Amino acid sequence: MNIEGSVVFITGANRGLGLEFAKQALARGAKKVYAAARQIESVTLPGVIPVKLDVTKPEEVAAAVAACGDVTLLINNAGIGRTGGALADDAEALLRDQLETNLFGVWRLSSAFAATLGRNGGGAIVNILSILSWVNTPTLGAYGVSKSAAWALTNSLRQELSAQGTQVLGFHGGFIDTDMISAFDVPKSRPEDVVRQTLDAVQAGQVEVSVDESTRQVKQALSAGVYLQDALAH
Ligand SMILES: NC(=O)c1ccc[n+]([C@@H]2O[C@H](COP(=O)([O-])OP(=O)(O)OC[C@H]3O[C@@H](n4cnc5c(N)ncnc54)[C@H](OP(=O)(O)O)[C@@H]3O)[C@@H](O)[C@H]2O)c1
Repeated sequence: MNIEGSVVFITGANRGLGLEFAKQALARGAKKVYAAARQIESVTLPGVIPVKLDVTKPEEVAAAVAACGDVTLLINNAGIGRTGGALADDAEALLRDQLETNLFGVWRLSSAFAATLGRNGGGAIVNILSILSWVNTPTLGAYGVSKSAAWALTNSLRQELSAQGTQVLGFHGGFIDTDMISAFDVPKSRPEDVVRQTLDAVQAGQVEVSVDESTRQVKQALSAGVYLQDALAH
């Protein structure tokens, strides 16, 4: 689908990748950009329409869908990343919190906007997943569980929405230079680059994009069992 002339709804659009999606959607000629954020006053980018939305709150999702009936491109970007694996002392809270935002948040928005997208010609959904949808590491084990679950959800949504012509694209990437991983001293991709590749993929009609070389290599190595190793072990 073309970004030019589209009506874009972005979750977590106040900072990080979400803010970059908002900037680049405007630059590509989107007709309207709804910038959703938990704190509406944190949306400061000129040219967007701020929407108050916590993706874990069904009543706020319902209000957003009712207010934004012209959406043609939904970008499920909002997410949280916590360190800790499945056997951490606080593992249950780690799993529940990250599943609530990274899985149920994506499901809540996608199911709520599905009819809107169908009425508006099909449109597209972009789900921001991760290299950790495909491989995992004890350092971010519970996060990886949530991103794997969101990948499976993405594949289900793609099949369920194909009849109404909705393009469902999964984004996979490694470390990107945002607040989320500021504590990690590792090589990072630039938000500008990964967002550009993602919007190019939307425009090209793709259903998946891997935005860096490590992620592309992991995808290639899945059948050889790369997921059996710690993703951060070198
Ligand atoms: N950075 C990376 O290395 C990397 C790599 C692969 C994938 N990702 C994914 O990329 C997406 C964006 O992350 P980022 O790197 O831009 O991180 P970030 O800078 O920490 O931004 C996260 C965004 O999500 C929002 N958010 C969190 N929980 C929310 C909720 N319950 N409801 C609504 N908004 C919520 C935050 O809002 P507040 O300002 O209110 O907290 C913020 O806008 C996430 O899905 C993340 O998992 C990141």
